[in-house]
Amino acid sequence: MRIIRAKDYQDMSRKAANIISAQIIMKPDCVLGLATGSTPIGIYRQLIEWYEKGDLDFADVTTVNLDEYKGLSPENEQSYAYFMHHRLFDHVNINPQRTHLPDGTNPDADGECARYEALLQSVGGIDLQLLGLGNNGHIGFNEPDTAFEKETHCINLLEQTIEANKRFFDSIDEVPKQAYTMGIRTIMMAKKILLVVNGEGKADILKEALYGPVTPHVPASILQMHPDVTVVADEAALSRCMK
Ligand code: F6R
Repeated sequence: MRIIRAKDYQDMSRKAANIISAQIIMKPDCVLGLATGSTPIGIYRQLIEWYEKGDLDFADVTTVNLDEYKGLSPENEQSYAYFMHHRLFDHVNINPQRTHLPDGTNPDADGECARYEALLQSVGGIDLQLLGLGNNGHIGFNEPDTAFEKETHCINLLEQTIEANKRFFDSIDEVPKQAYTMGIRTIMMAKKILLVVNGEGKADILKEALYGPVTPHVPASILQMHPDVTVVADEAALSRCMK
């Protein structure tokens, strides 16, 4: 595991965007696994800037997102599909047909999970998976549990996740209670993983994830078992990892 120390959020964003950019340059038809949330916003902004300068070409890139709220349509401003369009896809030359997320409007959870799992297989594996870290150690929406869930599944979001995500909604009642998420096995099958973390609020959980026991109670701890993980974190997030 490589740990890259960034000065602050902007530095973290630029360093992580450089890694994604290198992936696209080295393999223009790569499959990127993408994440939403506050952490990657600066990365997407940076990628758009480099695209606009002519340094990046998304024409042959395929993307698969980690997760989507169950019950939200892509038109809903809080949906992850809306986020991805607004924060990245609409600003670069990516082929919309090659951008994939779980379909939050599909009420048939088993059917939707099977469809997304098949899609993940059909794109031929993820070259680089971008991950954020939940306050409770979740990756994607793989919440702390007694076992690692392997495949795409429908999850009941924990109170702490609903609480953490209410900042994006008008009220806590509007935060969906369920989501579709890639499973741990799919994430672990990615050839490379890029975990981005910022802020002091994540310092304890980052330390647990990187140096604590590998346990489904801290889902991100499984990343210790992956052969090619790069962590880009700012000094505040790494403040408890000083050796
Ligand atoms: C989002 C996702 C989540 C977030 C995590 C951190 O697609 O999969 O695991 O990465 O909740 O969210 P932020 O970046 O908002 O702190």
